[in-house]
Amino acid sequence: MTSSADITLRTPTVDDGPALWQMAVDSATLDVNAPYAYLLWCRDFAATSVIAEVDGQPGGFVTGYRRPDQPQTLMIWQVAVNTAHRGAGLAGRMLDHLATVHIGQGVTHLETSITPDNDASRRLFGAFSRRWRATLDCSELFGANLFPESHLAEELFRIGPLRVPPTRP
Ligand SMILES: CC(C)(COP(=O)(O)OP(=O)(O)OC[C@H]1O[C@@H](n2cnc3c(N)ncnc32)[C@H](O)[C@@H]1OP(=O)(O)O)[C@@H](O)C(=O)NCCC(=O)NCCS
Repeated sequence: MTSSADITLRTPTVDDGPALWQMAVDSATLDVNAPYAYLLWCRDFAATSVIAEVDGQPGGFVTGYRRPDQPQTLMIWQVAVNTAHRGAGLAGRMLDHLATVHIGQGVTHLETSITPDNDASRRLFGAFSRRWRATLDCSELFGANLFPESHLAEELFRIGPLRVPPTRP
């Protein structure tokens, strides 16, 4: 991604469902859910999700939800950035965008789960906690034994309290 790229962050609509699914497939890392799941997400959890357009084309997305029994926690479900745009801060920018919108609506903490082998994701959320000057707690969420197929354990990253959004240049 060039520094002059035109980046738009916006709330996804149902019409974005196929693009989110395709980006999940192309990520080659994410557990890819059924196309139906992305359509449903774009209908029911759009307000806690974001799609990034780079020069008018889908370039990345974040899906999330506020935990029903703990609505002050924004749980990030999936993050993906197209390979051509990685390493330029786009994922961090999408996370900052969502967190900034939702701290105004009562969110104090962000959670996600990450497998131990996903360095990029671990660094992404580590960098997020440093930008927001928030504590990052790590614990086991779902052990490998809970997955019917071969799958590493999912570790819970809980970050907060989120107070003041970082300033961006
Ligand atoms: C994880 C992912 C979303 C990061 O997107 P990105 O836009 O490249 O991330 P950013 O540019 O905002 O970088 C965030 C941090 O990750 C680091 N990072 C980015 N790519 C990396 C890589 N391949 N290996 C190690 N660290 C990496 C950056 O250096 C930065 O850390 P720093 O601020 O300490 O330097 C992207 O690599 C991706 O789509 N991966 C496949 C899907 C996935 O694994 N999603 C996460 C699990 S839900």
